[in-house]
Amino acid sequence: MSKQILLTGGAGFIGSHTYVALIGAGYGVTILDNFENARRDIPDRLQQITGCPTRLVECDVRDGAAVADVLARQKFDAVVHFAARKSVAEGEADPVGYYRSNVTGLINVVQAMQDHNVKTMVFSSSAAVYGNTDQVPITEDTPLAPLGVYAETKKVGETFLQSVAAADPDFTLGILRYFNPVGAHASGLIGEDSSQPPSNLVPVISRVVRGELSELCIYGGDYPTIDGTGVRDYIHVEDLARGHVLSLDALLKKRRNHLVNLGTGQGHSVLEVLRAYEAVLGHALPHKIVARRAGDAGISFASGARAREILGFEARHDLNEMCASNWAFSGRSTLSTAG
Ligand code: WQD
Repeated sequence: MSKQILLTGGAGFIGSHTYVALIGAGYGVTILDNFENARRDIPDRLQQITGCPTRLVECDVRDGAAVADVLARQKFDAVVHFAARKSVAEGEADPVGYYRSNVTGLINVVQAMQDHNVKTMVFSSSAAVYGNTDQVPITEDTPLAPLGVYAETKKVGETFLQSVAAADPDFTLGILRYFNPVGAHASGLIGEDSSQPPSNLVPVISRVVRGELSELCIYGGDYPTIDGTGVRDYIHVEDLARGHVLSLDALLKKRRNHLVNLGTGQGHSVLEVLRAYEAVLGHALPHKIVARRAGDAGISFASGARAREILGFEARHDLNEMCASNWAFSGRSTLSTAG
């Protein structure tokens, strides 16, 4: 009997790609999602990709009783917890909503796990917990300095889970800090299609290509980088999904707790990303350099040493593949991300 996994937020961008990777790795997976930030045709698209019916429970993690009922009805071996809100700007405008979704929601899931003897969790965290550090490459020991509500909720979530693990030696925990997820599944059926207008670089570029934006505004041209524009560690969402399978394997088969960065270990500037996207399209895109965006770091990229050592994780996809897969999905996406 294959191990049964509850994937909260599994209809979302990273969750849906992780679903495909887990099915491919032989896990049984049930998606729990409220579709607040996911298209309702995702389960059907996932069935097209995997060839098997998508097991789905529509549920909001902010509803503790509903979450408890899900775990009462089916025995799970582990939970992969993605369900959270992730917009930096929205978090500043709605701290109560963000703490309710990202912290209370997490507590509800862990409470239900404890009540039903589920002792393994992979937690979706973010490099945002590091804030604007000048220590690069960023290791897992880099001091945490979250900037803003969203990043705070991720740090609080990590601290809470580490306390749960300290109180219960049988609780096995994997914390994954993502850098900049981009790209889409090779099928072109799933990708980054958030219901809110995107603020992240690559989805914004695809909006320029689709004519929804007149040009790309590049935030800052005076950083101490190769070309003055901001540098980030962009990681293909399919690499990220595979990292979750490796994390779950490490927990369920070796019972080895871990906290790791998931990045490529390589930084790329905004202009390098733009050029890569233009190479995919075969033409230039309108852009201009404007003032820096408040709160932005100049340079951020991961040390991948611990993920390599503990999980055997190495990113496989390069920037061109990230841009090409994003366009293969965005160019087909019937739903514009325009608000
Ligand atoms: C990348 C680079 C911008 C848009 C954010 C969140 C973080 C995480 C990942 C959830 C920067 C530049 C961007 C644009 C631009 N999310 N840029 N013009 O800010 O590194 O991280 O997404 O976990 O929490 O903070 O990603 O894609 O917004 O920016 O020049 O229109 O692109 O200045 O250098 P970021 P991003």
